Parts: sequence; structure tokens; C-alpha cells
Amino acid sequence: MASKLDILNSKKEEAVKGGGEKRIESQHGKGKLTARERVQLLLDEDSFEEIGMLTTHRSTNFGLEKQKFLGDGVVTGYGTVHGRPIYVFSQDFTVFGGSLAEIHAKKIVRIMDLSIQNGIPLIGLNDSGGARIQEGVVSLGGYADIFYRNTLASGVVPQISAIMGPCAGGAVYSPALTDFIYMVQDSSFMFVTGPNVVKTVTHEEVTSEELGGASTHSQKSGVAHFSVENDLKCINDIKKLMSYLPQNCEEESPRYPYEKTDETRIDLNSIIPDNPNQPYDIKEVINELVDKGSFYEVQESYAENIVIGFAFLGGKSIGIVANQPAFLAGVLDSNSSNKAGRFVRFCDSFNIPLLVLEDVPGFLPGTEQEWNGIINNGAKLLYAFCEATVPRVTVITRKAYGGAYDVMNSKHIGADMNFAWPTAEIAVMGAKGAAEIIFRKEIKEAADPEAKLAEKEAEYAELFANPYNAAAHGFIDEVIEPSLTRKKLMRAFDMLKNKVAELPKKKHGNIPL
Ligand code: HXC
Repeated sequence: MASKLDILNSKKEEAVKGGGEKRIESQHGKGKLTARERVQLLLDEDSFEEIGMLTTHRSTNFGLEKQKFLGDGVVTGYGTVHGRPIYVFSQDFTVFGGSLAEIHAKKIVRIMDLSIQNGIPLIGLNDSGGARIQEGVVSLGGYADIFYRNTLASGVVPQISAIMGPCAGGAVYSPALTDFIYMVQDSSFMFVTGPNVVKTVTHEEVTSEELGGASTHSQKSGVAHFSVENDLKCINDIKKLMSYLPQNCEEESPRYPYEKTDETRIDLNSIIPDNPNQPYDIKEVINELVDKGSFYEVQESYAENIVIGFAFLGGKSIGIVANQPAFLAGVLDSNSSNKAGRFVRFCDSFNIPLLVLEDVPGFLPGTEQEWNGIINNGAKLLYAFCEATVPRVTVITRKAYGGAYDVMNSKHIGADMNFAWPTAEIAVMGAKGAAEIIFRKEIKEAADPEAKLAEKEAEYAELFANPYNAAAHGFIDEVIEPSLTRKKLMRAFDMLKNKVAELPKKKHGNIPL
């Protein structure tokens, strides 16, 4: 027996070394952790159970039979994060550059199947040179097997991807099909075709970092939801994200203890500037409303005119969508609609109630927006809210104009509770624009057209730039003092906690993609 145990132990030791000391050194030299170090950091101590540690590839192409590494370039298994189970795969760049081939793919597919069957989240740590070139078409098949399962798992279990090295070609589509993408700054990139191909085809000279680095995808394309400084921060942030999420679509997020204090937030009474055209930072409002320090922003640097993220309210996880008056006056455009629409759908998939803070002057006008399909893109956000069956509460802090009023979780599209602050302006359009249209003739013929416009603008504002017309129609449930908002929200979400709402029977809807 002793000798058999020795064989087992030596195999395990060999597997743990991945592609060998030299390549591990090289990995560390690039400021990157190894696949196993990442898994150890992610999971609770002593909770990792590995699956398929002794697997090897079976290719004989290009002398591959002489190059076998136990585990075949990916560490897979399960363990716990904050005491709750998860499945994880972590690609090992020290083995064939983490490249994906038949067995490597099978290992990932296996834990994906387990994840779907058992309703347990999946976390993928990607660090790979793509399809293993020597194995050819089986690599492509392996990717497709993974894409298929990513799609099946979508809406069943949360799927989180970290890009911690290269991720190129079709390989990018697995992370893209998951719910959240983290990218590590300076050591990761994602693109469909790399700089060399780009140069040949479009004659553009671009570096990997410019083309598909963390800053590009977190600021320009919106592909990455989080851009993080290094591997350690990446893993810690994933753990933080997990604390807001349930295990699957049948469950609720965990509830945490919170510090019970006087819930009045007096500073909110003076946060809206007297001048309605002056900006303020909606994140200050968010931080006053949610449990202290609990707001975790998603896509912080992309489409900043809308703010999305998770927080705890009275110890319970909520998703927040808020117009940001401090950026482009909080206007809705294509990018912000896409950003918020996808987030709303995530929250709805996983039973996370939604809080909407509204201060929106309308949709952004112009050829750029129209030609880029603001009609379709705005409709995505509208669709996402309309079909969401989780508890939904809106607070209108200031502007709620035009179609944007309808889209931003209005009562008409299924919101459960709609509050407005006394500073709210709920109308078809701003007072100046409205006065210019309805009183055009009168203004033109006046002795002093400017004074006439000001007079008519004031008249319109008096009548409509307030929450009381909407409240009179029952579109607003209550006009509240801002300082009481946290208290009102806690009570509203508590009142809605057993909400049951069902959509008409269908196979699936057809969101305007
Ligand atoms: C096999 C690979 C590999 C690959 C890297 N390696 N990529 N082996 N298949 N795709 C190996 C290298 O031979 C090397 O082996 C080791 O991994 C480390 O690679 P280096 O080049 O030394 O590392 P680095 O300088 O950091 O560059 C990393 C890299 C580069 C940018 C990823 O290796 C690279 O460009 N690789 C090719 C990428 C690629 O074209 N992949 C196919 C994309 S198409 P040794 O033995 O020296 O350690 C694709 C289609 C997917 O993926 C379609 C899905 C539908």
C-alpha cells in the first residue's frame, strides 16, 4: 500500500507543478499568480475539492505525445466562498499557454454541467492562448461545447468571468455569455482579432492594450464590468460580488445583519440644487440611502450618465439603477440604455429587487444617437423593466421628462411603489422647450419676446414642473421628504418581499437586440 500511496502522491505533486518551475517563475515575473494560487485565494481555506487533476491530453500531433502535463492546462473543481459552494475553473498558462483543447474543454464542460444541475454559481478564471493549435478542430468543438452551456446556464446560476491573461479569438465569447467580466489591468486583453490581423485588414496600428486591454473594455466598449489593478484585487472583488448574489434563480440573496440606527438622512433635504440645471452627484444620494459603505458599482467608467450596482438595504441585497445628473445631465442614450437594461435583466433573473433613482431630462437627441439605433437600444431598457417581476421601487428626485419618464420604471410599466421628492418635475418636456412650442405665436408677436418667453416658461413650470400633477393621477404613490427616503424604501421593500407576478405564458420574449 505504501508504495501505491507514493505513486499517488508523486502524481499529485507533479500535477501541482503545472508546466514546471521555470514557467511558474515566468508567470510570477509578469506579476501574475498561477492557476492554483488563484483558486486558493478565491476559496475558503481548505474547501477546494479538485476534479480531474490527473487528466492528460491524448493528441499525438506534432510530437505532443512527448509533452503531457497532468491536468491538461486547467484546474477545475468546487469549494466554498463565504461558506457557500461554487464551481471554479482556472486556466493554467504554464501548460501550453493555458490553451484549450479536447480534455481541457471536457473538464470545464463537466463542472458547467454540475453547476447547472446543482444550482451552484460558476466562476471562470481565464488565462489562455486560445485554441491549442496542435490539436486543431477538437479545440473549436470544445469551445462550442462551453458556449452552449454558458447559454443554458444563463439565468439559472450566476456566471462570473475573470480575464487574467490573454483571451483572444472565439475564446472571448464564453466570458461574453456570462454575467460579469473582470479584467486585470496591464496583464489581460480580449479581442476577436489581434493587432497583427487588424493591421493587415484595416491598416490600423494598435497595441494589444489599446485594442482590448482592461481600460479599453471598461471605458470604451463596456465589455468588461470591472477593471482591477492586479490578480489579488480581482479575486477579492469577485468574492465581494458573490456576497450580493443568490446561488441560483430559485433562491434569494443571503440576508446580512446591519446596524439599526435612526434611518433619517437629513442631508438629503438639501442635496438638490435650487437651480434645476445644476448637477449633483447621484452617488451621494445612493450612499445615503443604502447600508453604510455597501454600494458596489458595476461598469463604473462606462456610460457614466447612468449608475448601476448592488447594495444592501437593511441587510438585503438590491440592484440600483440611477440617472447621473453629474454626467451629460443624466440623459439616456444608447450605451446607458444597454448598460442598465442588461443589469435589470440580471437582477430580475436572480430575484434581486430593483431600486430606481430618477433624474432624467430625456433621451439624447442627434444623428449619432439615431443612426446608432437609440430607438432599439432605448427599447431594450424599456423591455427589461417591463418584463421584470422582482419588487421594483422608483424615487424621482428631480426631472422625469418625456419618454424617459415612462422608461425609468414608471408605475405604468409595472413598478410597485413610486415615490417623488418635492423637487420632482414630471412632465412631457422642460418648461422652456414647452413654452417655446405652445406659445410660439404669442412670443413672436410680443413687444419683448424674451420677457414673454420667461413669463410663459414660468407659467408652464408652475403648472407642471412639480410632482403633484402625477400624484393627482396616482402615478406617484407618495411625495416624500427626501430625508425619509431610506425609511420609506426599507418599508416598501419589506412590504413587497412576497411579491408574486407572472408573465403571460411564452417560450421566451423577443427583446430588441
Ligand atoms: C498551443 C500555445 C498557444 C496555443 C501559447 N502557447 N498559445 N500552445 N496553442 N494557442 C504556448 C507557447 O508555445 C509557449 O509554450 C507557451 O504557451 C507560452 O507562450 P508565449 O508565446 O511564450 O507567451 P507570451 O509571450 O506571454 O504570449 C502569449 C500569447 C502568445 C499572446 C498568448 O503565445 C500567442 O499569441 N499565442 C497564440 C495565440 C493564438 O493565435 N491562439 C489561437 C487563437 S484562435 P512553451 O512551451 O514555450 O512554454 C482561437 C480560436 C478559438 O483561439 C475559436 C473558438 C470558437
